[in-house]
Amino acid sequence: MEGLIFDQENYTVRTCEADGCRVEYRAFENIPYCASPADDIQRMNLFVPEAYYRGEKINGYDLHTAPIFAHNTVGGYMPGMPGKPEKSSFGPANAIFEALRHGYVVAAAGIRGRATGVDTGGRMFGYPEGALEKAKGKMLGKAPALIVDMKAAIRYLRHNRDVIPGDTERIITNGTSAGGALSALAGATGNSGDYEPYLEAIGAARERDDVFLACCYCPIHNLEHADMAYEWMFHKCPDFNMLSPEWKDGNVVRMSAVSRPLSEKQKKISAELKAQFPAYVNSLGLKDEEGNALVLDENGEGTFREYVKRQVIKSAQKELDGHRTAEKYSYLLGFVMQDVNVEKQPYLTIEDGRVTDLDWDGFVKYITRFKAAPSFDALNLSSPENDEFGTADIPARHFTQYAFENSEAGGALAEPEVVKMMNPLNYIGKADTAKHWWIRHGAFDRDTALAIPAILALTLRNAGYDVDFELPWGLPHSGDYDLDELFVRIDELCRKQEA
Ligand code: DHB
Repeated sequence: MEGLIFDQENYTVRTCEADGCRVEYRAFENIPYCASPADDIQRMNLFVPEAYYRGEKINGYDLHTAPIFAHNTVGGYMPGMPGKPEKSSFGPANAIFEALRHGYVVAAAGIRGRATGVDTGGRMFGYPEGALEKAKGKMLGKAPALIVDMKAAIRYLRHNRDVIPGDTERIITNGTSAGGALSALAGATGNSGDYEPYLEAIGAARERDDVFLACCYCPIHNLEHADMAYEWMFHKCPDFNMLSPEWKDGNVVRMSAVSRPLSEKQKKISAELKAQFPAYVNSLGLKDEEGNALVLDENGEGTFREYVKRQVIKSAQKELDGHRTAEKYSYLLGFVMQDVNVEKQPYLTIEDGRVTDLDWDGFVKYITRFKAAPSFDALNLSSPENDEFGTADIPARHFTQYAFENSEAGGALAEPEVVKMMNPLNYIGKADTAKHWWIRHGAFDRDTALAIPAILALTLRNAGYDVDFELPWGLPHSGDYDLDELFVRIDELCRKQEA
């Protein structure tokens, strides 16, 4: 397709230093990855270890065999700028730096989001007065734009497979939270025809868009079932605990928990949503490793809950064996209000170095509820997800029947086809789903219920995919924390592919 040819000569050699390490790389920047873009953000940065151009190898890879790490910076379903290697604002070097250092080629695509076309005044939540009125007809980043853009970027790489650095049969998507959902969508929906009209509209290359591995950190996905899952988990928590940042000289110096009680109405909503969850889980036909059915009774108890509980126990055991969290992830613990010391958890039973039991209600109360009810499809259309399901003209819509019927804002309901295209679960095994998955969701992350990543991991495993799923001990809503382990896994898989 015209205009989608990779220019091998248009680059700058740069260096980046972080964590006492220096990486020299070739930067191909701001490459338009589709022929008829809807927004200027639809560009990609491509970074390549400079050593490859000197004929050197890194971890056994060269210019043609290196995996391509397709990292996105999407958060909160907002637009995600094309990333670059740098030290992250609150911790170590970012994932792009680490991937380059490890010898991967990095493809960092800019991705449209819910605020595309809106003058946000730099805000993450809420809009300046009048901004949405002015944006009417121009909001071109609503669902399913984010996955359309990622697919277009992947297709661009394949379109240029003979000249693009790296191996286009080793594309790894990576993202956190809404970006993790995007990674899961890319992993699940490879080559699905559903997105074709959208891809055609932006002039994407006619190529395959399946990927090798999807790495998903705390993916905020399965949005139309996230409210019921949240109430299944948190219905016994009468308060929701937001984190409020304290700023000094432009930096967050401390996070404090601000606790607010659920209203009587919210408690009623919680009970109604919780009651919907067992039928949903039971409809999935999930099984554990031994083939036992994972189900819930009408109270939300049963083998599925035991399975999720076992994953938390496994996480606690790993921490008890290694005591890694406090040191390795210290930079994340400022976002956790609780003591994460595994030996001091009041709901865990530990005997002779073994975690033998976990009191589920005690655990849930300990980590606390973060969001009010409904936590995703807000009745007043105020959530990021409501925004995500808007249209070019309508800033926000509902995406569940429950919130639509109980709307306090006279909100419209998103089309079922759009809701479908935003949920990776609808495509597992029905499209060219990635064979390999890496799913991480902090055990103390309350942005969505632990049931949500568990359902993703189980659905994939039950369908025969290779899934590495953990709930890392004590960690909050965050990502890119165990890249060393991820890279070991990727390298193993690449070696197997070669054998
Ligand atoms: C993100 C977090 C949320 O709690 C949410 O509802 C959507 C997105 C995020 O961090 O990307």
